Amino acid sequence: MAEPEKANVVGVTIRPEIPADFGAIRELLVLAFSPEDVATLVENLRKTPGYVPDLALVAVHDGAVIGHVMFTQIEIESDSGNTPAMTLAPLAVHPTWQRQGVGSMLARHGLQLCHQIGHRIVTVIGHSTYYPKFGFVQSVPLGINMTHARLEESKMVLGLTPDALDGVTGMVRLPSIFDEA
Ligand SMILES: CC(C)(COP(=O)(O)OP(=O)(O)OC[C@H]1O[C@@H](n2cnc3c(N)ncnc32)[C@H](O)[C@@H]1OP(=O)(O)O)[C@@H](O)C(=O)NCCC(=O)NCCS
Repeated sequence: MAEPEKANVVGVTIRPEIPADFGAIRELLVLAFSPEDVATLVENLRKTPGYVPDLALVAVHDGAVIGHVMFTQIEIESDSGNTPAMTLAPLAVHPTWQRQGVGSMLARHGLQLCHQIGHRIVTVIGHSTYYPKFGFVQSVPLGINMTHARLEESKMVLGLTPDALDGVTGMVRLPSIFDEA
């Protein structure tokens, strides 16, 4: 990772989501992303083959869900073959808990789990000033582009092993349900 592990936020724990959390996660996503319908995106992502329940994580404080992150299996497609990867989307923290380290805790915990499970590459579309602290770099200069019209600088990728990105180029084709988010 780009920077040393930071202290966790006091009283906040990270664990995989369970169905009993789904209502609280919807409420959190509506609050964090309103008016974008990211809550429906997450519910649809759970129905795709790329959904990995162990990599959909909640941050919990005093029994309440205060943050959520999802890592979904995707492929980087190219003429010479496809490369498996994970994509980080979405990441959300309850407005009253933002800017206190919970988003970083969720991202770092999830990336460590991805690495432990054996995944080698994680992509993200997001704030270009937020994700570099976890080691993400701009993907387009490396030859990795992404569907969905967003700013070029928002397209980022992270190799979880030193050689993970060697020779990898192509197009990250996100599930079409991202079109509706
Ligand atoms: C973006 C988000 C996930 C970050 O989580 P967080 O717990 O607030 O962030 P952390 O405490 O780990 O990190 C704080 C740093 O993140 C950056 N940051 C936080 N919100 C940001 C935003 N909306 N845009 C850009 N950078 C942001 C800042 O650098 C901040 O540092 P500062 O407080 O010293 O300025 C959270 O603010 C959120 O849910 N926002 C609304 C939904 C969203 O935009 N999700 C991201 C989709 S890519």
